[in-house]
Amino acid sequence: MIKNLAVYATNVTKDFMIDKNKKISVLKGISLSANYGEFISILGISGSGKSTLLSCLSSLSRPTSGEILINDINPYSLNDRKLALFRRKDIAVIFQDYNLVPALPVLENVTLPLRLSGKKIADDQIKSLLKSLNFEADITAKVANLSGGEQQKVAIARAILTDSKVIFADEPTGALDSISRQLIFEALKNFAISGKCVLMVTHDIELASMTDKSLILKDGRISKVIHRPTAEKLYQALETINE
Ligand SMILES: Nc1ncnc2c1ncn2[C@@H]1O[C@H](COP(=O)(O)OP(=O)(O)OP(=O)(O)O)[C@@H](O)[C@H]1O
Ligand SMILES: [Mg+2]
Repeated sequence: MIKNLAVYATNVTKDFMIDKNKKISVLKGISLSANYGEFISILGISGSGKSTLLSCLSSLSRPTSGEILINDINPYSLNDRKLALFRRKDIAVIFQDYNLVPALPVLENVTLPLRLSGKKIADDQIKSLLKSLNFEADITAKVANLSGGEQQKVAIARAILTDSKVIFADEPTGALDSISRQLIFEALKNFAISGKCVLMVTHDIELASMTDKSLILKDGRISKVIHRPTAEKLYQALETINE
């Protein structure tokens, strides 16, 4: 079915077996859609299922039930070879733990996925993107020797430079000072404005209030959708879910 949506999910559930006869339901029927050009934030208290949702949406973890389409493709219907290609070309993921190769230099970390998909990017373009993110370390330094915040910027530059139409970002501004946080937000915003799509998990109400739509997750369900969120609306929504 052609939907022409960047991301479409219907009735997605995810269970984990925590031992032989104990199952926990982490996602309990999530439906959402995201258009090209849209920047969506996902909020919710710790343990509400945000990272699990992002893994399911981004083709990394098969849901227990429900359907997911990214660029009109159901990644879980692809064979292994096509799925690997899909992950490389169609999506970019910024993980909570950066997912970089610590022993490799900054530049290599940014270009690795690009080289795997046969795309060339000039070093200068990478340098100027990193500069726009306020990256201050040496690009020949090994990633293992960088601070958490600098590592996060490398992961973000890498995601932005791929050809993907969708970025999934799990707390991309978590380890950052407020200037860098703003710059990264702007880089992601520009990515969305260029006709692509960003889904970002965040605890940052101020940043979420500058996205197009916020989804509030509670106990594995979307408890509220806020179009054109403001900080006030978000505070209210998050306060009521704690009651
Ligand atoms: N692989 C797994 N096996 C068992 N339980 C899991 C697994 N992954 C996640 N969970 C459980 O699912 C729930 C939701 O976890 P998840 O990481 O999605 O939450 P979150 O909203 O991202 O939290 P945080 O804000 O702390 O990052 C938690 O109770 C977690 O323990
Ligand atoms: Mg998480």
